[in-house]
Amino acid sequence: MKNSPSSPDKTPLESLELWEDDLLNRYPDPDAIAQGRDTDAYRNYVEPTRDSVREFYRLNHLHQTYDFVQAKRQEFLGFDKREMPVWDAFQFLNQLVDDSDPDTDLDQFQHLLQTAEAIRQDGHPDWFVLVGLLHDMGKVLCLFGEAQWAVVGDTFPVGCAFSDKIVYAEFFQHNPDAHDPRYNTQLGVYERHCGLRNVHMSWGHDEYVYHMVKDYLPEPALYMLRYHSFYPQHRENAYAHLLDAHDRAMFKWVDLFNPYDLYSKSPTPPNWSELRPYYEELVAKYLPPTLKF
Ligand SMILES: [Fe+2]
Ligand SMILES: [Fe+2]
Repeated sequence: MKNSPSSPDKTPLESLELWEDDLLNRYPDPDAIAQGRDTDAYRNYVEPTRDSVREFYRLNHLHQTYDFVQAKRQEFLGFDKREMPVWDAFQFLNQLVDDSDPDTDLDQFQHLLQTAEAIRQDGHPDWFVLVGLLHDMGKVLCLFGEAQWAVVGDTFPVGCAFSDKIVYAEFFQHNPDAHDPRYNTQLGVYERHCGLRNVHMSWGHDEYVYHMVKDYLPEPALYMLRYHSFYPQHRENAYAHLLDAHDRAMFKWVDLFNPYDLYSKSPTPPNWSELRPYYEELVAKYLPPTLKF
């Protein structure tokens, strides 16, 4: 996925998918390993960590400060950029074409559809299927000219100490908040077990899509959308001191969603013309005709 115009600070990754490829390196599919199943299907997506991924995290950890997050919330949570049906948003998203490997790469919409289909095949509720379809829609931020490190990447709380369990945690030493006594204690501006609803997360596509659809979907769906990149918690349990009982209950859904996101990629695109009526009905059931971006 490319940005334009390109600048090294905005687009350190040759393709936005490299972040997800790196996630597969860090969190490989346990089923594939347990079954001794050849991981050929995934091998196309899994490569050794590239320098560009390191550089991506260096920039992310340098710039994602408490003040940066407040500024982005101000800029984007007014939803005054454009208004469109989700179907137009998916088309818009597909303008971000990944040309790093044109033979094997599926576009953004195929990833959303494959995630949704994997959830549907396991018999989950329809709003869970819709989460699969919508979860990366916030990546349209890239098309509004946002830097890659402000759209994707593992998310984490700002306003309190950065956990050393966050990937490439050493880069936080260059983040100004790491040296600010308001923000660099374990709790920082928060109270123990205050609940994630009171915690500001690093800015990216998760927080953005959550706010976009928060009036339309049930609570577990909103948790899955909002925290699906919060690997430091749902995989590493590094911020248990901020969660309350409600968060802990809801994170069972976040945990359930994660494998569908990471491990549903298949080189064969789903048959959209067959699936289309189901998804059109699903979207119409929960969402208004247009959404504000
Ligand atoms: Fe995502
Ligand atoms: Fe995804």
